[in-house]
Amino acid sequence: MAPSILREPICKAHSSSSNTSSITLAPLPKKNGVEFAVYLYGAHVTSWKNEHGGEMLFVSSKAIFKPPTAIRGGIPICFPQFSNLGPLEQHGFARNKHWTVEKDPPPLPSESTAFIDLILKPSEDDFKIWPHRYEFRLRVTLGPDGELLLTSRIRNINTDGKPFTFTFAYRNYLSVSDIGEIRIEGLETLHYLDNLQNREQFTEQGAITFEEEVDKTYLGTPRKIAIIDHEKKMTFVIRKDGLPDAVVWNPWDKKAKAMADFGDDEYKRMLCVEADAVEKGVTLKPGEEWKGKQKLCVVPSSYCSGQLDPQKVLHGS
Ligand code: BG6
Repeated sequence: MAPSILREPICKAHSSSSNTSSITLAPLPKKNGVEFAVYLYGAHVTSWKNEHGGEMLFVSSKAIFKPPTAIRGGIPICFPQFSNLGPLEQHGFARNKHWTVEKDPPPLPSESTAFIDLILKPSEDDFKIWPHRYEFRLRVTLGPDGELLLTSRIRNINTDGKPFTFTFAYRNYLSVSDIGEIRIEGLETLHYLDNLQNREQFTEQGAITFEEEVDKTYLGTPRKIAIIDHEKKMTFVIRKDGLPDAVVWNPWDKKAKAMADFGDDEYKRMLCVEADAVEKGVTLKPGEEWKGKQKLCVVPSSYCSGQLDPQKVLHGS
């Protein structure tokens, strides 16, 4: 696909349409403004709006929509390598590949209002970089209450009998009112690796709020994490399955200035809270499939506050 086409998302799926086609671009009735947009480039969700048309995801005003740069914002998918912890490019190649819309997808789940199925398979050139055959299917679904669900299915289809191991992340760039007004619930007291200190392990103490650069990989996290925006009086809730880790990242001012595709002050309006399988990785034998799911929703803040002590909810839903 020519890079110019990358400026257009392939899909705007709206919950207000009863017969929403998964790849429609047409404007739909405004009764309910909930919608998402996804690019073929990287299978990258770049927009998720609530019923008032409010944007829930952050995308930088300086984001570059041209290969080989991943889009700065939205929900990049990191596969098959998280970060630079391996031989591949930073965060793996999936976010820099052109995915295709899967034909004849399975029927729309009855509780969903719109969805799209995308697939990534290795080309011969890709195979030289990562010598494995796989099928990576991503379904992006809009739920009846405006929640955004991403389901990844990765299957080993190697014919040489070899297993492969990968790491994975949904990097959620959440749009926040002001980083100083944000608190995370669900990760207190957990162990984390500090990516700013050679991945040394520490244990979180006290409330998780933000006043400087943060790049932490929380280990063995609960399935539910809440990100409370005190100013907006709303809470993002991330529910995840098959994704035991959670990276929390904000570049803060110095790193923001050093990034070509990120505005100098934009760190104040975003926070990445990821749903990841990065620490142990996932190993699949030929024929095996892995599934990693996350559901994002937004609720009034009173819903979550004080309810997400990890000790109580580690194994809860
Ligand atoms: C986060 C990492 O997931 O992604 C950070 O923990 C990294 O270390 C950030 O800086 C952004 O990565 P990139 O490659 O998109 O600039």
